[in-house]
Amino acid sequence: MTQITNRKPRILTGDTPTGRLHLGHWVGSIENRLAMQDQYECFFIIANAHAFTTRAENPEQIRESVLEIATDYLAAGIDPEKSTIFVQSEVPAIAELTFFFSMLVPYNRLMRNPTLKDEIRDKGLGDGYSFGFLLYPVGQIADILAFRPQLVPVGEDQLAHLELTREVARRFDQLYCGVDPQTPDADYVAAGGLFPVIEPKLGRVRRLVGTGGPGPHGQLLKMSKSLNNAIYLGDDADSIQKKVMGMYTDPNRKKATDPGTVENNPLWIFHETFNPDRQWVTETEDLYRRGLIGDVPCKKKLVEVLVTLIEPIRQRRVALQNDPGHVLKVLQDGTRRAREVADETLRLAKKCLRQDYL
Ligand code: TRP
Repeated sequence: MTQITNRKPRILTGDTPTGRLHLGHWVGSIENRLAMQDQYECFFIIANAHAFTTRAENPEQIRESVLEIATDYLAAGIDPEKSTIFVQSEVPAIAELTFFFSMLVPYNRLMRNPTLKDEIRDKGLGDGYSFGFLLYPVGQIADILAFRPQLVPVGEDQLAHLELTREVARRFDQLYCGVDPQTPDADYVAAGGLFPVIEPKLGRVRRLVGTGGPGPHGQLLKMSKSLNNAIYLGDDADSIQKKVMGMYTDPNRKKATDPGTVENNPLWIFHETFNPDRQWVTETEDLYRRGLIGDVPCKKKLVEVLVTLIEPIRQRRVALQNDPGHVLKVLQDGTRRAREVADETLRLAKKCLRQDYL
């Protein structure tokens, strides 16, 4: 496949503003974003319209969370000189594309989306969810395709949405751009398609566990604000200490001289994920298995590791909070830039749809 333009390849990803970012976001996606900032043209969407799908009655909270997430991005090291951070609702081309894309998604296909089903279950939505809630995966397709990116860095829970995005891109290109259905996914644009068949990029940890114990079926629960088991990128050393010292480990270990289990033990999952000292981790896991070291020193070490990672982010966060005008300005500039790109895609899409009248 040949690259038809000489610009950097694009990525698009983002977050729904329903709270602040935690370590699960960090290993699932933020880390990847930082690593990709130089080689890719990056767009990061704050999906505020999507936040209304489950909290339409709390617009103030959504606004606050948009600013928190933007602050988290900047504090984590996303550089607005390199990357575009923007607000979904202020890019109207996304809403327009959503309508056209919705015709390309069979209703029953949407209802089989496992991410949607999980959300309905986990958030206890019962059968009281809104029509807009069902529409949001289609909106997410538009978030992505409006930027025609090659790659979409996400956590595992988003894969179902990305598969739907790939299906819509193929369908659009086949129906409206004359692309042969036999074309390999990677060649859709080269074959004349408007939309690339995007590829997901998963983080190095697919699903980080939380600091709490297992759920009703015995499996460790993922880190999540609603489960109250999260360590946030803005947490100070004291809260990190409290969360780690109180964290769930091996429930069968009553004293330090009992042999401990390392597998499925959040203490060791966290060390393996975040502790850069591999040798310490391997050696200490061995001591733990043999009942030669207690939980407490291993937890203390983990506090140190996490504080080292989070403290610089927290400090930048505090500085940014003292300068809210700056965060807003970053969002405004980014949103303007995102509009240009999405408007261009919409113009091209309407041409393909034979609805270019002006
Ligand atoms: N649904 C994603 C989440 O809840 C957020 C999101 C919205 C997104 N639009 C996106 C992620 C586009 C990737 C690409 O985490």
